[in-house]
Amino acid sequence: MHRDARPCADKNISLEIKNLTVSYGRMKAVRNVSLTLKQGQVIAVLGANGAGKSSLLRAIIGVEPPSEGSIHIDGVDISTRSTPARVAAGIVLVPENRRILIDQTIHENLLLGATARQDVGDFEADADAVYERFPSLRARKDLAAACLSGGEQQMLAIGRALMARPKLLMLDEPSLGLSPIVVNQMFNLLKDLNEQGLSILLVEQNTGKALALAHRAYVMEQGAIAISGKSSEILSDPRLKEAYLGGE
Ligand SMILES: Nc1ncnc2c1ncn2[C@@H]1O[C@H](COP(=O)(O)OP(=O)(O)OP(=O)(O)O)[C@@H](O)[C@H]1O
Ligand SMILES: [Mg+2]
Repeated sequence: MHRDARPCADKNISLEIKNLTVSYGRMKAVRNVSLTLKQGQVIAVLGANGAGKSSLLRAIIGVEPPSEGSIHIDGVDISTRSTPARVAAGIVLVPENRRILIDQTIHENLLLGATARQDVGDFEADADAVYERFPSLRARKDLAAACLSGGEQQMLAIGRALMARPKLLMLDEPSLGLSPIVVNQMFNLLKDLNEQGLSILLVEQNTGKALALAHRAYVMEQGAIAISGKSSEILSDPRLKEAYLGGE
């Protein structure tokens, strides 16, 4: 496999979120959140159920309009752009619960990931590069995605995201419901992708694994950032536990 065929762009991306608020009616799910991801970094966003993590990711990808704040990618304000335009700019979201189309074939699911691309790239070659990573997907590429295990569906969801040639990969609780072995495989994959230059914004409940991978982390509590800093500092911060207990 020659390197050009990798469905992962060479250039990574920086993200700057300033004072972002997401409201559902009168309830503020994300409160005045500011967050910075430098090119090539892995950032973890942690927090208890209902802390606002998914709402934050949905606002970044543009499916949830924020009521306040701005989102800059490489210094360009993308806050008013459509979701496809944000994907074309290099951000992609692997959503909570994967959202695989189980009636479609594995190959069709993969090609869907390239829909927002504006180039006339060789999508089949990119799919081939995904299959290089995930041989078990290649073996069943023409079968319905329903035949895949939970772990394989997560790999397909990540493979589908890579088809967009992202510069920033966002994942919403990718380890949810997976066995420990598959969780390890997935974290190894994320490490590998980051080492190849992909910036990653990872929302996780698996605090230990997320902090081991990430350079920096943000802990959300009731919509706001309660703690932020280097992963090693967050790991030993007593407020980390409190943030989880407080949200339960
Ligand atoms: N579409 C919606 N309409 C109204 N309220 C919502 C909606 N989506 C989320 N909420 C509420 O906003 C708050 C934050 O939810 P969100 O899903 O962003 O949290 P989360 O940190 O991702 O939680 P989890 O760990 O359970 O996935 C919660 O109180 C939730 O009930
Ligand atoms: Mg969530």
